[in-house]
Amino acid sequence: MTEQTTTDQTTGTTTDGKTTALVTGANKGIGYEIAAGLGALGWRVGVGARDDARREAAVAQLRAAGVDAFGVPLDVTDDESVAAAARLVEEHAGRLDVLVNNAGVTGGMPQEPTRVTPEVLRTVVETNVIGVVRVTNALLPLLRRSPSPRIVNMSSGVGSLARQSATTDELSTGPISAAYSPSKTFLNAVTVQYAKELRDTPILVNLACPGFVATDLNGFRGVRTPQQGAAIALRLATLPDDGPTGGYFEDAGTIPW
Ligand SMILES: NC(=O)c1ccc[n+]([C@@H]2O[C@H](COP(=O)([O-])OP(=O)(O)OC[C@H]3O[C@@H](n4cnc5c(N)ncnc54)[C@H](OP(=O)(O)O)[C@@H]3O)[C@@H](O)[C@H]2O)c1
Repeated sequence: MTEQTTTDQTTGTTTDGKTTALVTGANKGIGYEIAAGLGALGWRVGVGARDDARREAAVAQLRAAGVDAFGVPLDVTDDESVAAAARLVEEHAGRLDVLVNNAGVTGGMPQEPTRVTPEVLRTVVETNVIGVVRVTNALLPLLRRSPSPRIVNMSSGVGSLARQSATTDELSTGPISAAYSPSKTFLNAVTVQYAKELRDTPILVNLACPGFVATDLNGFRGVRTPQQGAAIALRLATLPDDGPTGGYFEDAGTIPW
């Protein structure tokens, strides 16, 4: 995209034309690598993170690597925090081109349905599903100002009912999990609804599965690097205007629902 200062006639907001992304949960793990990857494209990147020290450290590290990064205090479970984050992005950039809803929690394992507590279910859904809706809806007015807006929701292959219900070891995936896996199934369903509602707009909204990545989320038991995990999100963040919407992807292609 070319850089050019423009003023939105409706809002009076001036933007410099630089492509801007916001990544939630960008202080570590896959989110950090998504921010680094988008920054390497020359984009301005908002580093969404709830903890001040962790956010500032990530922003400093990204800037040291040459990324045009700015910190965005953001707890996806908090209405006020999300509203303030949207205001900050508007002040900084005037619009948003790409939103990556990456922040997520497992709620802790093991997580058998016969033992899971309502509290764990609530916490996981609040973050992994309601958090995505809260952030997306708060940022939509800024995304609508972009010529080619993209939304990437970090799901997981464990959200696939086809894979969860597969009976062969080869096809089945993930541990028994009463909150985390169903939260990603819920996120998948909600994302399909966004794609339906936004189908007549230039906004493309898709789901990414990063594979099994070594991060805090799984006690670093994953087998892929965070950089490898970030690749599918980077691909969906940079889709051409005729790219897919409402899809569910991993590096190898489409994931069965
Ligand atoms: N790792 C895998 O194998 C794997 C596989 C499939 C899908 N995923 C998905 O990929 C995404 C990133 O996971 P990861 O493996 O990189 O995990 P991670 O290293 O634990 O990072 C999770 C990020 O989410 C943030 N976060 C959690 N709750 C938040 C909240 N309420 N508000 C704002 N930020 C919050 C964390 O911030 P704090 O540092 O403040 O906790 C952290 O930055 C998640 O959505 C996860 O479900 C991961």
